[in-house]
Amino acid sequence: MADDPVDGPAEHWDGRYSAIGDTAVAWFEADPATSLELISSVAGPEASVVDVGGGASRLVDRLLERGHRDITVVDLSQQALASSVERVGSAPVDWLAVDVRDWQPLRTFDVWHDRAAYHFLTDPADQERYWDLAHQAVADGGHVVIATFAEDGPEQCSGLPVARYSAASLAAAMGERFAVVASRRQEHVTPSGATQVFTWAVATRR
Ligand SMILES: C[S@@+](CC[C@H](N)C(=O)[O-])C[C@H]1O[C@@H](n2cnc3c(N)ncnc32)[C@H](O)[C@@H]1O
Repeated sequence: MADDPVDGPAEHWDGRYSAIGDTAVAWFEADPATSLELISSVAGPEASVVDVGGGASRLVDRLLERGHRDITVVDLSQQALASSVERVGSAPVDWLAVDVRDWQPLRTFDVWHDRAAYHFLTDPADQERYWDLAHQAVADGGHVVIATFAEDGPEQCSGLPVARYSAASLAAAMGERFAVVASRRQEHVTPSGATQVFTWAVATRR
């Protein structure tokens, strides 16, 4: 937890969402097309999906439209989750306001999705625990779909330092737990017009 902002991570992220608004934050995507495409490449609508650090992402809306009925969104920001709850209403989604570093899932998922949350873990012990947790929480034959800033992506986001990855270094971080089956670079254009380069990986649980 060495990199936590002084006001605590939940307060920090709640503050960003409240001050900027969930459609103006740098990571906002009106259409989470890459997430949906990569999830669809490994799982059908019957698959259970957990969106780790899902925040106020529109991915949950798109998954519901695709027919998914077992969706969990994990995020430490109550503010971000409240925005999504307001949007999707009474849809069958489990909303978990928890720091992923403290989360103890009581079940497994077919797909673990994370866009731009894991890269905030800069402490090697937190990174190891994250991959142990993902391995524990992904069902046999299940998948991880993850995006981090690329090696030439931003060094910070939301005032916090990030760890940046190539496809190879992301695979190395997963270690023997997952086998990367696809990867790509993606340029995300922020609401203010800046370009951020991401590394995406799809990996199968070993
Ligand atoms: C850059 S945003 C990305 C949000 C979402 N995945 C998207 O693509 O729109 C990072 C998200 O991760 C959440 N987050 C950061 N650290 C976290 C942690 N340790 N545990 C759970 N959520 C975390 C933040 O609250 C924020 O919603």
